[in-house]
Amino acid sequence: MTGKVWTVLGIETSCDETAAAVVRGLAPGPGEILSNIVFSQTDAHAPYGGVVPEIASRAHLEILDAMIERALAEARMSLAEVDGIAATAGPGLIGGVMVGLTTAKALALAAGKPLIAVNHLMGHAMTARMTHGVAFPFLLLLVSGGHCQLVGVGGAEDFRLYGSTIDDAVGEAFDKAAKILGLPYPGGPAVEEAAKTGNPRAYALPRPMKGRSGADFSFSGLKTALRLLAQDGVRVEDAAASFQAAVIESLVDRTRAGMALFRQDFPKGDGLVVAGGVAANQAIGTALDRLAREEGFVTRIPPPRLCTDNAAMIAWAGVERLSAGHKGDALGLSPKARWPLATSLV
Ligand code: KG4
Ligand code: ZN
Repeated sequence: MTGKVWTVLGIETSCDETAAAVVRGLAPGPGEILSNIVFSQTDAHAPYGGVVPEIASRAHLEILDAMIERALAEARMSLAEVDGIAATAGPGLIGGVMVGLTTAKALALAAGKPLIAVNHLMGHAMTARMTHGVAFPFLLLLVSGGHCQLVGVGGAEDFRLYGSTIDDAVGEAFDKAAKILGLPYPGGPAVEEAAKTGNPRAYALPRPMKGRSGADFSFSGLKTALRLLAQDGVRVEDAAASFQAAVIESLVDRTRAGMALFRQDFPKGDGLVVAGGVAANQAIGTALDRLAREEGFVTRIPPPRLCTDNAAMIAWAGVERLSAGHKGDALGLSPKARWPLATSLV
């Protein structure tokens, strides 16, 4: 099938990254990233050890317009030349989502272009189609600061939830572990770096949910165990490595369970896509790759800068929806703080 190639401006403001991008393509991909500008507010939030919603929305408001102009300029495009304007409409910090979505509505109205309201999680979920042209169906392991889920993706609007965290998200666990160990914010990259020179067998930590039926996750017990351990004094690198090893073993076990559930729905499916900020972790990627080989799956992990929050993934989600015949969303639609990608079918 030869179809029209869509060019979409994407806007992302749901957490602490202000981002704008222009992407061109047609589902199933791969797509072409014409520009991808991300401003991380890390420095503004670092003194607080986490994202402060009020600071985040103000920062988005201050720089978003300039980021959009830069994204268009780098792509050598005018607003008149794009086919649609996609913005994250949730889930996320509501103040930030409002800034991005309202800006997108104004641009869509002014330029007479369709507005595409994107679920942030769908953006993460579809990134591997933009980068690798991964075909449906695939099993998605979505691991970010706010989410930890195993989802069967049968199509752009077919999401089946196999498991999710019953307490903390895995990125959140990394961030809390970093705090406990006195490592800088954001914690994920800092823990991964420290773990490189540590002994993963130095300290015994629990492997949460390992061997349990279903494919749910849990990380709060591991965090508590690390806190207790750290009270007695630890070598930071060894503690980071031991923590990361526990996370990996838990993720691998839960993903193996998710693969079995996925195969019940899609007996011939063999794609494993890892998405979200934690997918930037190389040790986790390597372990999941080994698991995939054992189970007859092929792993696809987007490059780190496309795993963490960005607007190219939002623009690409817009490409997916335009490719599927979507004509645009109503300008009156409201942002959503909560917006699950899939609700449990069981
Ligand atoms: O997807 P993302 O950028 O934002 C959310 O939508 O949550 O994910 C951010 C999360 C943070 O918790 C961060 O610590 C974690 O991803 N992260 C990592 C790594 N890079 C980012 N976790 C482990 N290892 C990493 N290399
Ligand atoms: Zn995210």
